Amino acid sequence: MTDAHITVHTEATIDRIAPEVHGHFAEHLGRCIYDGIWHGDRADESGFREDTVSLLAELDLPVLRWPGGCFADDYHWEDGIGPQEDRPRRRNLFWAQGPEETPEESNAFGTDEFLELCERIGTEPYLAANVGSGDPQEATDWVEYCNYDGDTELADRRRKNGHEEPYGVRYWGIGNENWGCGGQMTPEQYAREYRRFATYVGTTDNLLLDHDLELIACGFEGHEWNRRFLEEVNGSPWGAEFPLDHLTLHHYYGRTMTVAEADEDKYDRFLADALEMERHIERMAGAINAVATTRDIGVIIDEWGAWHPEATADNGLEQPGTVLDALSAAAVLDIFNDNSDVVTMTNIAQTVNVLQCLVETDADDAWARPTYRVFDLYAPHKGNDAVRTTVSTPARAVDDDRELPLIGASSSTGDDGTYVTLTNLDCRSAHDIDISLEGTTLDEGAVTAEILFADQEPELEVGPDNADEFTADDLAISVDGDGALTAALPPATVAAVSIR
Ligand code: AHR
Repeated sequence: MTDAHITVHTEATIDRIAPEVHGHFAEHLGRCIYDGIWHGDRADESGFREDTVSLLAELDLPVLRWPGGCFADDYHWEDGIGPQEDRPRRRNLFWAQGPEETPEESNAFGTDEFLELCERIGTEPYLAANVGSGDPQEATDWVEYCNYDGDTELADRRRKNGHEEPYGVRYWGIGNENWGCGGQMTPEQYAREYRRFATYVGTTDNLLLDHDLELIACGFEGHEWNRRFLEEVNGSPWGAEFPLDHLTLHHYYGRTMTVAEADEDKYDRFLADALEMERHIERMAGAINAVATTRDIGVIIDEWGAWHPEATADNGLEQPGTVLDALSAAAVLDIFNDNSDVVTMTNIAQTVNVLQCLVETDADDAWARPTYRVFDLYAPHKGNDAVRTTVSTPARAVDDDRELPLIGASSSTGDDGTYVTLTNLDCRSAHDIDISLEGTTLDEGAVTAEILFADQEPELEVGPDNADEFTADDLAISVDGDGALTAALPPATVAAVSIR
């Protein structure tokens, strides 16, 4: 008898899983950029940390958001271009930087360094423009500097700074958290700012460039804020034609769960909080559907992940990298697959050293956290078609009105067959599961399976000495008399099954 039954409806396509759903976010905050990526002790001649860069390149990130976060709405991009010795040092309103933890920005890492990083690791850039303390001229100039191929002072400055060809930056965020650190705006106020910025940045796209820009507006976790923002934007004379390609929200969870003091009840609540992601997506899609469709305006979650009390502004938002956090990332990636018809991009926070980073560094080493292993295991989903997956699972009550489903799954189909990812969110017990593919009798020879964290406790932290222990192992899987796959998932594990 198995405890959980998973049915993959291979003919019920939801939509293509945009590779950008596996995107990342790097801010000028703590040791993310300075020390983690740039000018650390192991920096190569160009200023990049070779060890970090090669771990990121291996992961094949589809898109990287930069420079913030709250930092973005206090950042003036022209400070960070040209000869290093001429770049001004500025105070940073929001975050301390680098190993010295100073609230100052050296501007040593700017637009050209970021775009070079993207070229080195083969990822697409997503730049967030300053709305809070900036203006449309500054944002439009940034687009011109990066993308224009003509004979203007800004395009020439880019050439002089070493990049002859336009970078072709496609994704442009118009502000960050403009309801908070990005200007404390009401939805109507931000909508009017958005209209101003998008008029100029969007028209640059039409007149100067031979590729499409995608403009990203900042939204909020609550439905009401998004509804009011969209109504006001929609009231522009351009109506639905107005340049707005995606609306974003941020979802962090774990704010009350100190990792060092947590017990299994807290793990359950933490994982249930992560699963709230689905409700946020549904609410945002609902707000969009009231004025347009999610085909016209996609949902982006451009900051998400675990944020525990250990991460404070004083320590550069650093917290332990645990199996439990990685488990939450797997559960959330399953949600993104199931909502591939509306979710166009997501960016886990943050790439190196900060919050639920994938790569962590010290003076000597860079290593992959357990969450990195999850992204690696889920990589075959990228670009596949997500298909409907039903999961019949035991659940555990976590609050008066909430339950944690203990087994989760999502599936996709592509050139290599069907790919199913699974989570056992139960940190106490193993579960036996079966998987059927609707209308198909499975053949054991066509199936391979891998598992993460089978030998590790949920609270186990990664460090330079044990990072290799978190890689995937083979998972024993067999076909039962009904042609279904069966497997045993140990507590707090993530698995993937590939069926050709
Ligand atoms: O990722 C850390 C911070 O969280 C970002 O600067 C901000 O956008 C969010 O509140």
